[in-house]
Amino acid sequence: MTERSNTETMAGRDDAESSARPGRPIHISGYDRKGRDFYATPAWVTEALLRHVRFRGRVWEPCCGTGAITTVLQRHGYEVTSTDIADHGFGTPGIDFLGCGAVPDGCRALVTNPPYGDTGSHRGQEKSPAAMLRFVEHALRLTAGVQGQLALLVRFQWVAGQRAAALMSAGPFAAVIALTQRICWFDRGADTNAAQHHHAWVVFDHAHPPGQPPALLFAGADRPRPQGEPPRTAP
Ligand SMILES: C[S@@+](CC[C@H](N)C(=O)[O-])C[C@H]1O[C@@H](n2cnc3c(N)ncnc32)[C@H](O)[C@@H]1O
Repeated sequence: MTERSNTETMAGRDDAESSARPGRPIHISGYDRKGRDFYATPAWVTEALLRHVRFRGRVWEPCCGTGAITTVLQRHGYEVTSTDIADHGFGTPGIDFLGCGAVPDGCRALVTNPPYGDTGSHRGQEKSPAAMLRFVEHALRLTAGVQGQLALLVRFQWVAGQRAAALMSAGPFAAVIALTQRICWFDRGADTNAAQHHHAWVVFDHAHPPGQPPALLFAGADRPRPQGEPPRTAP
């Protein structure tokens, strides 16, 4: 896992304490670089997304962790810019997504498993639904700037929350891809518990025709797309 990418050229690592400014693509954070709600997304979860969605251009993974999502995207031929607030040994560390004023140059889509999930791994990470909503609102604003796409992995029940539903109804909400298998976040060998929650990808597309309802799609770990069949573009 050695992808040390080009985002340093987008923002210059020396303005480390700068705050977000309009038009500045990247905010370098003074964050202390501890774990920060890190857990890796199993490959099948990203495969499930790519079974249904085709992204229009370069993808930004703004919370890349150790590159679990990036690696699958790249395997599918996507160019990916990978950043993270913490240093997990992959991509460009020190980039606070919430402080970024634009998507990195050339990116048309944003794909991530954001922090604020519910695996019980939070330490020193604000984990309120409000924080998650702020994250989604920010991601929607940034992708609107490039008429882009946004795919976020969330707990399935998050979709039904009142404020999340309102946010999604107001935005270019294109699809929910419900994962039919539960994600096992931590392999503890014989002590591994069955995961409690279902997850889903919520997909926004600023090119989604207004008034067209979002698609409800399903995908699991065990249904590979038949060879030769192109992935669906949501919706
Ligand atoms: C749940 S992990 C997901 C990692 C990776 N996306 C994956 O799916 O394997 C969340 C990641 O978000 C990062 N993170 C937390 N707050 C962030 C912020 N404000 N800006 C950028 N990255 C952040 C953490 O360092 C962590 O790597």
